[in-house]
Amino acid sequence: MIHLSNVEKVYRTDRIETVALSNINVRVEQGEFISIMGPSGSGKSTLLNVIGLLDVPTGGEVTLNGRLITSYGDRSLARVRNEEIGFIFQTFHLINDLSVVDNVEIPLLYRKMSGAERRKRALKALEQVGLSARVHHFPSQLSGGQQQRVAIARAIVGGPRILLADEPTGNLDSQMGDEVMSILKALNSLEQTTVVMVTHDQRQAEKTARIVRLFDGRQVN
Ligand SMILES: Nc1ncnc2c1ncn2[C@@H]1O[C@H](COP(=O)(O)OP(=O)(O)O)[C@@H](O)[C@H]1O
Ligand SMILES: [Mg+2]
Repeated sequence: MIHLSNVEKVYRTDRIETVALSNINVRVEQGEFISIMGPSGSGKSTLLNVIGLLDVPTGGEVTLNGRLITSYGDRSLARVRNEEIGFIFQTFHLINDLSVVDNVEIPLLYRKMSGAERRKRALKALEQVGLSARVHHFPSQLSGGQQQRVAIARAIVGGPRILLADEPTGNLDSQMGDEVMSILKALNSLEQTTVVMVTHDQRQAEKTARIVRLFDGRQVN
């Protein structure tokens, strides 16, 4: 479903050239759960952003379900991203002055949908992450693990086929991290959502089917 072929990403400024990714070849099949590991600065986030169409590679090709994404313009990319991809970040990225349910509805604002339908879908997503009792709370009233579960609900509310997570357990203690992992595992096995997760945590990585390792922007396995 996702196919990266000879992907390269070079950041250029006036003086410096940083090779963030070099000759990356990754194939992720529908329904897989894989992790990306490597030291800080090795290109993990860049790779995830390329897979998630947030970042355009400077070389190589990305195909998503057979479509050559590297030939798409910004508007087409934004539409594919909104409809087919969900993102989860280490620091949750919730909006603090919106309630939990309003945060979860955000991705649906870009679609033609009634307010009642948005609300219904957001409540269902919150039920999937076990937060039905917290829908009118604000992010600051929740634990870190609960905030990350809200972020997962927001990522899945639009029914994406792909979930991308950049160190989703990085800011959580091990018990909350395990809870977040089991939600990702359940989404993967029950809904066949494809999950690609960046992690520093070998224990969490071992729960996934396959590990892609990076070092200095290159694949080492
Ligand atoms: N916007 C950017 N401009 C310039 N260099 C960048 C940018 N984003 C990342 N880099 C560089 O690319 C390399 C890989 O970064 P990143 O993908 O964030 O690594 P990781 O997530 O593994 O820590 C690093 O050397 C980083 O400094
Ligand atoms: Mg990173």
